[in-house]
Amino acid sequence: MFYKDVNTVNPVLEVKDLRARIDDKEVLRRVKLSLSPGEIKVLTGPNGSGKSTLARTIMGDERIEVVEGDILVDGESVKDLPPEERFRKGIFLSFQMPPEFEGIRIGEFLLRISGRSGPEAIREMKEIAKELGLDPSILMRELHRGLSGGERKRVELLQALFLKPKYVLLDEIDSGVDVESVELIAKKVKELVDGGSAVLFITHNPLSLKIFSDRPVLRMEGGRILENAG
Ligand SMILES: Nc1ncnc2c1ncn2[C@@H]1O[C@H](COP(=O)(O)OP(=O)(O)O)[C@@H](O)[C@H]1O
Ligand SMILES: [Mg+2]
Repeated sequence: MFYKDVNTVNPVLEVKDLRARIDDKEVLRRVKLSLSPGEIKVLTGPNGSGKSTLARTIMGDERIEVVEGDILVDGESVKDLPPEERFRKGIFLSFQMPPEFEGIRIGEFLLRISGRSGPEAIREMKEIAKELGLDPSILMRELHRGLSGGERKRVELLQALFLKPKYVLLDEIDSGVDVESVELIAKKVKELVDGGSAVLFITHNPLSLKIFSDRPVLRMEGGRILENAG
């Protein structure tokens, strides 16, 4: 590119001096973070340091009270928007413990939230399922009901790969799975990012930390992000 159009906003998810509480307990203390398309940032740190809370606050979990600071998507604040609208602006969160949704089939759910339909979308979904080592018939199963821990993680990743959101928050998508799965997840995450998404990869899996050691690694402790631990 030879010039920069002054009217184009720089695509970036920005967390600015975010302070948040759960039940009057301060869980995030002035957290700063930026995440741009094409980039993987690894977030690690001990249990209870606030990693999941940070991801849930970015997604708009109403149980968390934002006390100060802001969350911007492409320059616009999303702090007061409900999770569905944040999703429409490109934010996607895969939960550490994905909840079950009774009566909603996985494939149906994906079509609904993507706004897509027809054989091409279904073919693509099945293809991604296969790449993740899942039997495509899983798309007919109810969302996360009766799925094993490893299957849930893969279904969460399937959602991200199908939806291709701009800002993807993956909360321990590599925990409780075997070595081959960790490697497959890392490979798919790289593909997602090469396709133009941004990924915040929350992990304390040593293998993932090794695979992503060439990427920025942020460490969280006591509700704060300590810059570049990698
Ligand atoms: N729903 C909740 N109710 C009360 N406290 C919570 C809740 N969720 C998280 N916390 C508290 O917030 C802190 C950060 O937790 P969390 O974000 O889950 O950490 P991490 O993901 O880094 O292990 C912990 O002290 C935890 O006990
Ligand atoms: Mg967590």
